Amino acid sequence: MFTTAKIIEKVNIRNIFWKTKLRLNENIGEAKPFQFIMAGISGEFELPLYVSLYDHENRLLEVFYKVRGEDTKKLSKHNGFVTVRGFYGKDRMISFNSKSILYITEDRGFSVIPFLVDKANRENGTIDIIMIFDSKDEIFQIAELAGVDFKGSVIYIDKEEIDHGFINLGSFVNMFTEQRQRWDVIIGAGNKDLLKAICKLSNSYSTNRFLSPFTYVKCGIGACGYCTIPKTRYSLCVDGTLFTCEEISAFLR
Ligand code: FES
Repeated sequence: MFTTAKIIEKVNIRNIFWKTKLRLNENIGEAKPFQFIMAGISGEFELPLYVSLYDHENRLLEVFYKVRGEDTKKLSKHNGFVTVRGFYGKDRMISFNSKSILYITEDRGFSVIPFLVDKANRENGTIDIIMIFDSKDEIFQIAELAGVDFKGSVIYIDKEEIDHGFINLGSFVNMFTEQRQRWDVIIGAGNKDLLKAICKLSNSYSTNRFLSPFTYVKCGIGACGYCTIPKTRYSLCVDGTLFTCEEISAFLR
C-alpha cells in the first residue's frame, strides 16, 4: 500500500537519534512489531524504517531513526509531506499474553522498542531490554524514546566494551545466564556478530529465539535481491524481518 503522510512532529532524542511522527493520508493496514515502511521524499530517496508505533485508528505513525547518511539527514530536516509504502515484513509471533520477553538490540533495532513496550503493556506481558550503543555519548534512556510506560529492566552497553562482536561483558553475561528462566522468548536485532552471540549463548535453552538481521533494503517487496540473507534462501523484506536461529544458521556460521 502507498500513501502520503504529513510530518506533524519531529523530536531530536539525543545527538543523531530522531523521532518523527506522521499522519498518514490513508490507512495502509495494521502494523506489527518488526514490520517496516519505505519512507521517502518524492523524487529524491526512499529508505526503510522499522515501525516504532502505529495508532491505526488515527493513522498516526512514529518512526525512530539514527542519522547515518544523506537520506536520514534529509529526513530529519524535512518538513511537510513524505511518501510511505508498507507495511512490509511478515507478521510473525510477538504475542506477549502474560509472557516475558528479552530484547537485545543495537542501533536501528532501537526503533522497535516503543512498539514492544506498548504491546507488552497491553497484553499483560513484560519486556526486559539490553541496548548496545556505538559509544557512550550516544546513550539515552528508554523513557526518552518510548513515550510509553516501561516497567521492565534495561542494561545499556557501550559497544566499545564488546570484544569483536562476541559479548563478554560481565553484566550482560550474568543477566543472560543467571536469569534466563525469566524469559519465554529472546529477540535479537543487529549485525551478524551480535545475533551469532545470542544464538550461541542461548543454544541449550528451550527459549524461543527470533532474530532480525540488519541488511541493506532497497525495494522492500522482494524484487531487487539486495536484502537476501547470505547463504540462505530468505530475503529480509519478504520472509523476515524475524527469523529463528535455525533458519539462518548458515548465515551465522
Ligand atoms: S529489498 Fe529488494 S528484495 Fe528485499
